[in-house]
Amino acid sequence: MRLPSFHKLFLLIALLLSVPALALTPVAARHGMVVSSDPLATQAGVEILKAGGNAVDAAVAVGFALAVTYPFAGNIGGGGFMMVRMTGEQPAMIDYREEAPGHATRDMYLDKHGHVIPNASIVGALSVGVPGTVAGLATAEQKYGQLGLARVMEPAIRLATDGFPVSYSLSQSLKSHQALLSKFTGSRRIYLRNGDLYQPGEIFKQPDLSRTLKQIALHGPNAFYLGPVANYIVATMKEYNGIITAEDLARYRAIVRQPLVGHFRGYDILAPPPPSSGGVALIEMLNILDPLELGPPDSYESMHLIVEAMRRAYADRAAYMGDTDFVSVPVAGLTSVKYADELRKEILKSKPDAPVKAGNPAPFEGPNTTHFSVVDAQGNAVSNTYTLNNGYGSGVTVDAAGFLLNDEMDDFTSKPGTPNMFGLIQSEANAIGPHKRPLSSMTPVIVLQNNKVRLVLGSPGGGTIINTVLQVLLNVVVYHMDVLQAVIAPRFHDQWMPDQITYEKWGFSADTLDKLKKAGYKLNETDSLGECEAIEVDPATGWRFGAADPRGAGKAEGY
Ligand code: DON
Repeated sequence: MRLPSFHKLFLLIALLLSVPALALTPVAARHGMVVSSDPLATQAGVEILKAGGNAVDAAVAVGFALAVTYPFAGNIGGGGFMMVRMTGEQPAMIDYREEAPGHATRDMYLDKHGHVIPNASIVGALSVGVPGTVAGLATAEQKYGQLGLARVMEPAIRLATDGFPVSYSLSQSLKSHQALLSKFTGSRRIYLRNGDLYQPGEIFKQPDLSRTLKQIALHGPNAFYLGPVANYIVATMKEYNGIITAEDLARYRAIVRQPLVGHFRGYDILAPPPPSSGGVALIEMLNILDPLELGPPDSYESMHLIVEAMRRAYADRAAYMGDTDFVSVPVAGLTSVKYADELRKEILKSKPDAPVKAGNPAPFEGPNTTHFSVVDAQGNAVSNTYTLNNGYGSGVTVDAAGFLLNDEMDDFTSKPGTPNMFGLIQSEANAIGPHKRPLSSMTPVIVLQNNKVRLVLGSPGGGTIINTVLQVLLNVVVYHMDVLQAVIAPRFHDQWMPDQITYEKWGFSADTLDKLKKAGYKLNETDSLGECEAIEVDPATGWRFGAADPRGAGKAEGY
């Protein structure tokens, strides 16, 4: 069909007008910024900032709101890590990782022949670790917040009570997890409406969750760990053969830990210590790469060097890492510049992809965890990653209390040498033990420049998380991209075993891929890696720039 000329003119004008939108424009704000995987949760955080809350108040509001609007990974039945940097104070990381129940044993997922029982650590009540989120968020609020738990939980309670319109992505996500959710009565009733699936635009109310949240807002974390909610959790365990007891819940505490501090090209990197492996691996990789001339992004030169750093850091992760409250991990050694110097020398003199023992490849999971970043008007920052592990966790809902439980037990070593859900091979150091916390890859990071917050970032993606954080950080610091470009830029991942480079299939030139292949690397394409929600503060003007990763349906908003 031939277009009438005014239509052509219109199209031309539209095209010209749309050029600024095509340019990569992060969301800019003078005072505060929130970026999360869900627009309603982001709004909850901005509401709290505007009401006079600081970054921690806003982060706690976002954490609880995601538990309502983003049940895929937002939670009160899971756990995570919150990195906090208040201006003028020592930074801290709140470790609210789940814990193994007291009756957990190292071989609990093996059959009598010593084989891993398929799905035992992934689906159902036996896969559940003692949830840490309520303790973690409450600890953050008590230690740093200004408005108090009751106020910062208001948006979440409102969203649960009044409901919210189901987004396209939520309706799709629920639909695609029917098989898991329909296995358990509460999950089937709440998330699948017993088969009458939510359509986009329908209002999703969660009265049971609303009641639970109100109790927490009123009585603090004891309402969850000691009160009626605890009883409901224990009853759910009994119903589905889980092993979490009332004592396990009563003794759970969030732990305030000192972040690891790395240094890279004049920036200070605040990164999570164990039981996350993320900080150690990130700092190890940054130390290896620091003095190297990396070459442009999407080039053989840069990818080769970064991949070799990844392979070494992930090999060390597999060999050494676990919960430092139970096993000793050579954290100082792994993050030392001297050790990185040795590894770099080895990289520069070895053949690319020098052979290592073949792994046992397992498919990668999607971005089932969730990260959010907050910066407030005073320059305080929060970087928080939390999770149910894979999407909708164990699939088990505490029916009367309206929330899903994690399957974080899969992050332990079910059997040394056998890969977990993320294909990660792990050692004795991460064996299951009562009250131990499973090794994590979650890497909430805050980057400082001249002692001021410069970048706040993190991502879901299981074992791929650390490499996503590494690349977004390099994109800003080395390649001088703005924060949205840095987040959008294509990513790759190598975790040593399986020994291959997984890359976003839309993102790299044939030339680069060809050179990598010729050098001997095994390549594996994927649709997307991670979902980084990041904030950059412009050191010259103090403006905050937010970037919600377009790989997800999140939102950056500030004021
Ligand atoms: O803590 C960890 O490393 C994992 N439980 C994170 C899970 C995750 O990111 C799921 N997404 N693929």
